[in-house]
Amino acid sequence: MARPPLAAMPEQEMLAIETRALSRRFEGRHGVHGLALEVPSGSVYGFLGPNGAGKTTTIRLLLALLRPDEGEVRIFGQRLAWNDRRALRDVGSMVETPSLYPHLSARENLEVTRRLLDGARAHIDEALAIVGLSAEADRRVRDYSLGMRQRLGIALALLHQPRLLVLDEPTNGLDPAGIVELRTLVQRMASEFGITVFLSSHLLSEVEQIATHVGVLHQGRLLFQGTPQALRAQYGDPLTIRCGDVRAVCASLVGLGEVPLALDAHTVSVNAPRRADHEINRRLVEQGHAIHAFGRSPRSLETLFFELTGPGAGA
Ligand SMILES: Nc1ncnc2c1ncn2[C@@H]1O[C@H](COP(=O)(O)OP(=O)(O)O)[C@@H](O)[C@H]1O
Ligand SMILES: [Mg+2]
Repeated sequence: MARPPLAAMPEQEMLAIETRALSRRFEGRHGVHGLALEVPSGSVYGFLGPNGAGKTTTIRLLLALLRPDEGEVRIFGQRLAWNDRRALRDVGSMVETPSLYPHLSARENLEVTRRLLDGARAHIDEALAIVGLSAEADRRVRDYSLGMRQRLGIALALLHQPRLLVLDEPTNGLDPAGIVELRTLVQRMASEFGITVFLSSHLLSEVEQIATHVGVLHQGRLLFQGTPQALRAQYGDPLTIRCGDVRAVCASLVGLGEVPLALDAHTVSVNAPRRADHEINRRLVEQGHAIHAFGRSPRSLETLFFELTGPGAGA
């Protein structure tokens, strides 16, 4: 399908990243296969998957650090060619740990890169301010915490004032306080500076609160892509029944054609459609079960993520 020219496309409809049939195989079945990523401009996109799913491989393909076997990458509508990095002009990235000079200050580290980029001096102060390191800018990086180093890495990635920031597992190795800081930083970059942020993680809990969109990768394939709300809606919330005799209630549910799951000695969970609630309730009471609580409890995204990618998934 033909796309309208870039200028004619409203900003909110533009995709910051789009891949089509993107594949890169390694030995065996490893790699990524037929990826169709759609990262809306202005979004915070959480790219989720367990270790080994292919997140770093994907990111290296997005940054032309790795050559695809098939497919294409578009950045803000512009096709990325393997040997021509012009489409990456508006992209800043941090893949794994940033390489920093420990004996130099944060400001000096930024200055080294600024000279290479031939950027404006003012961009250093702006980048430091965004990542919240202005007050510590003249301390040697050797004395920085891991969280501060990560933020300095992001400042380096922001130095040429990109519209899209790609971060590979930026919370890796951070303590809980560092994770909160990073989350706040990502939110500010998106809301105050309009930067689209694409970040990978193997922990949904880390991106759940900030992602406007999520993609779930498992064994190199995209299992889901959309808003966290859509992810929840697609899988629905299970019916949870608190009762006196789990075994008897399970037997009755099986009799009703359901597939119950005993969660503990007093709780049963069923993935029945919501319209069946009334009928299930009536039948259980009719059969004399003691029902203490009956209702839909929101399934955490964490549970969904585990169901999508955990043992036995995608087999
Ligand atoms: N250069 C490579 N050569 C061979 N196999 C690779 C290479 N890079 C990654 N892989 C394999 O591809 C799979 C995905 O790796 P990776 O993209 O690093 O996953 P993730 O970042 O999600 O943990 C893994 O099984 C990994 O061993
Ligand atoms: Mg990785």
